[in-house]
Amino acid sequence: MTNEELTHRLATTDEWIRSRIGVATRHMIDPGTATSDLAVEAARRALRSAGVPGAGAVLLATTTPDRPCPATAPEIASRLGLGTVPAFDLAAVCTGFVYGLAVGAGLIASGLVESLLVIGADTYSTILDPEDRTSSVIFGDGAGAVLLRAGDSEEPGALGPFDLGSHGELADLITVRGGGSRQRSSPAPADPGDQYFRMEGRAVFANAVARMAASSQSALKSAGLQTSDVDRVVAHQANARILDAVATELRVDRDRFVSNIARVGNTSAASIPLALDHGLRDGELRAGHRVLLTAFGGGLTWGSTSLTWPEIALAD
Ligand code: UT7
Repeated sequence: MTNEELTHRLATTDEWIRSRIGVATRHMIDPGTATSDLAVEAARRALRSAGVPGAGAVLLATTTPDRPCPATAPEIASRLGLGTVPAFDLAAVCTGFVYGLAVGAGLIASGLVESLLVIGADTYSTILDPEDRTSSVIFGDGAGAVLLRAGDSEEPGALGPFDLGSHGELADLITVRGGGSRQRSSPAPADPGDQYFRMEGRAVFANAVARMAASSQSALKSAGLQTSDVDRVVAHQANARILDAVATELRVDRDRFVSNIARVGNTSAASIPLALDHGLRDGELRAGHRVLLTAFGGGLTWGSTSLTWPEIALAD
């Protein structure tokens, strides 16, 4: 969906969206499509790319599961033909994929599984308020997936130390108020608008920049790296101006940031794996690159890690 198409139903302009957010197009699912449909396709491609028939577990990072109960990951595992493997959802909003990598790496390190699919998938078009021009222009739907496997800590692709954090006092900055136990146990009637996603844009902006910059520094320090060692940064594609500000804070050349927000918008948990895919296809990510991953999202939550980019043959 182009900015021009959005102007038909919202009081906005292509110029405002490009200059404030840096988005030109985004994808939105058709009615009847669900987050799991995107996730299954992304996971199939990840397995094909890895050249393996399956994985020992499935972790789905999402804010938009197919339904509140049960989790969506078991259905994804079944549709992938993975049998009775462990499968669960993880909720950390836009930080979900990085949290998912940390949890996945931990499951492998514990010896519980040999390999695992980490999928980031979100369909914000299902929770956006059609009247809210600020959030409607930012978000898009998408899914991305990686296969993690046991390996040597020195080999390319091995995940470095993680920095993860949260600040629940600011939970209200990014929220869907309705649908949970607080509302269901409340004697007051629900407000129909509570089903929609709400965000305090300016406060989110400031927190996103500060948290991603500090978290990146912390993860790099734990890995014994400096920002000057980083060849590519794959940050959560929140907003192009947020990426500009993080680059300035970190003193990393903006050209080293992989960015696909113009094409797909902010896809929440799918943002980093989609940027990895696009970065690889576009030749921006190459084997041997030292890559920093950093994310920020509702909760508030944030997380970062680093890796040396491995040889990867992408599936179509
Ligand atoms: O994963 C984390 C995701 N979240 C984000 O990345 C959001 C971070 N926040 C932001 O990027 C910015 O705060 C926004 C892009 C959301 C908003 O930009 P802003 O510069 O903070 O704008 P604002 O909310 O202060 O609004 C400025 C003006 C207002 O008009 P007035 O009151 O000055 O007349 C808004 O009504 O812009 C208006 N506005 C719009 N105008 C045209 C808000 N949305 C739109 C729109 N088109 N879509």
